[in-house]
Order: sequence, then C-alpha cells, then structure tokens
Amino acid sequence: MKNDNPVLVALDVPSREEALRLANTLRPHVGGFKVGLELFCSAGPAIAEEIGAGDVFLDLKFHDIPNTVRGASAAAARLGVKIFNVHCLGGSDMMRAAVEAAREQNPSTQVIGVTILTSHDAAQLRELGLHEEPAAAVRRLARMAREAGLDGVVCSPQEIAAVREECGPDFLLVTPGIRPANATTNDQKRILTPQKTLTAGADWLVIGRPITAAPNPLQAARDVLQNLG
Ligand code: C5P
Repeated sequence: MKNDNPVLVALDVPSREEALRLANTLRPHVGGFKVGLELFCSAGPAIAEEIGAGDVFLDLKFHDIPNTVRGASAAAARLGVKIFNVHCLGGSDMMRAAVEAAREQNPSTQVIGVTILTSHDAAQLRELGLHEEPAAAVRRLARMAREAGLDGVVCSPQEIAAVREECGPDFLLVTPGIRPANATTNDQKRILTPQKTLTAGADWLVIGRPITAAPNPLQAARDVLQNLG
C-alpha cells in the first residue's frame, strides 16, 4: 500500500475472478484493497496473495477468546496483509493477543479495531447492555484499543475528530462511509466526501460501491483521486 494514495477499494464481490478483474484494473489508481467476509468466504485466503498481500486490508473483524484470536492473527500476519482488524468488544486481553501474535509473525502488519458498528444506534447498544451514546462508546473503545497496543481503529467520518483527540496524531484511522459529492448514498447514513474525510484527519478512505458499481470503475477511481487534488 502506498500512503500517498489513501483510497482503499472495498472488493465486496462474490467471486475471485471479479475481484481480480477489479484489482488489476484499479491497481495503478488506488492505494490498496479491502477484502471482507464475502470475498474471503468465497475465494479463501489465497485471494490476498493473488491481489498482493501488501496491498490488502483484511476486514474479518476477529472477535473470540484471546487464544483463538491469537492464532487467527498470526495466520493473517503470515499472509502478509498490510492491515487486519479485530472487534474492540472482544476486550483488552483479546486485543493484546492479536497485536502480540501479529508482531511476532510480521512487524509490518498493522492491527486495527472496530469500535461500535455504524449499524448500531443507542437503542441497540442498550439492548446489548451498553448504556452510553454510540459516540461516547466509540471514544472509550478507541482509547482501550490504543492502550492495548493496536495501531488504529475503523471509524466513521463523523467520529474522526473525537478519536483523533482521544488517541493522538499517530493512531491510524481507516474510514468507510465515503461518498463523492455526485454519488448515491446506498445504505450508508453518516457520509462525507473523500476530500472532507481526508481534511478531517483520516489516513485511509474505504470506498466500495461508488467505484466498484460504477459503469466505469477506472474512471470513477480517477475522479475520486482528482477530487482529492
Ligand atoms: O460500498 P461502500 O462504499 O458503502 O463500502 C464500504 C465498505 O466499508 C463495506 O465493505 C462495508 O462493509 C465497510 N464498512 C462500513 N462501515 C463500517 C465498517 C465497515 O461501511 N462501520
């Protein structure tokens, strides 16, 4: 991944062939690719190597007992992915196990946390026994992630300022929920343009459908880059 180009394209497609076609077309114009559950379950870990593991953010959101996450994290780091993630709600011991295992296998693999899913609102948090506003929970869990040694978190554009304030300038912020000014919002609710998200302090912009579902994905990626200046 080249941080001079902050765009990570979410390859939310069901087949290896489609993912590789998109990756090969877009590679010169983007910073890397996000491989999530759909593609990983259909194409397997080999897809990371085929794309080029150093260009991959593996978005599998590990959440299990520390010993199990330690093993999964070691395997992700051995694959050589640039970034992978765990759920902060798995707790501090689990996060520390993930970081330790990743560092042992591959010091250049970064481990980030998912704080509160953006699909959860205050009512759903209450149902889970969390009696705080989502923004407060995000802040608290981001601080926990930093204290456990994680390199950063996934956060929505609206959460960037608070997490930066809480966790400092070197904490990696990977931000989905991005829509170019002229794009449809799909099911994303709290959105911002790529330019505004970067200005707010994100390190990586995760962009899926505005590029992958565009009639011409290559042109869509070029347009995003051009708008970033
Ligand atoms: O297509 P779109 O740009 O909405 O894709 C955003 C990607 O980021 C998807 O893969 C989605 O699962 C992921 N994501 C998200 N919101 C989060 C965490 C991940 O949209 N809070």
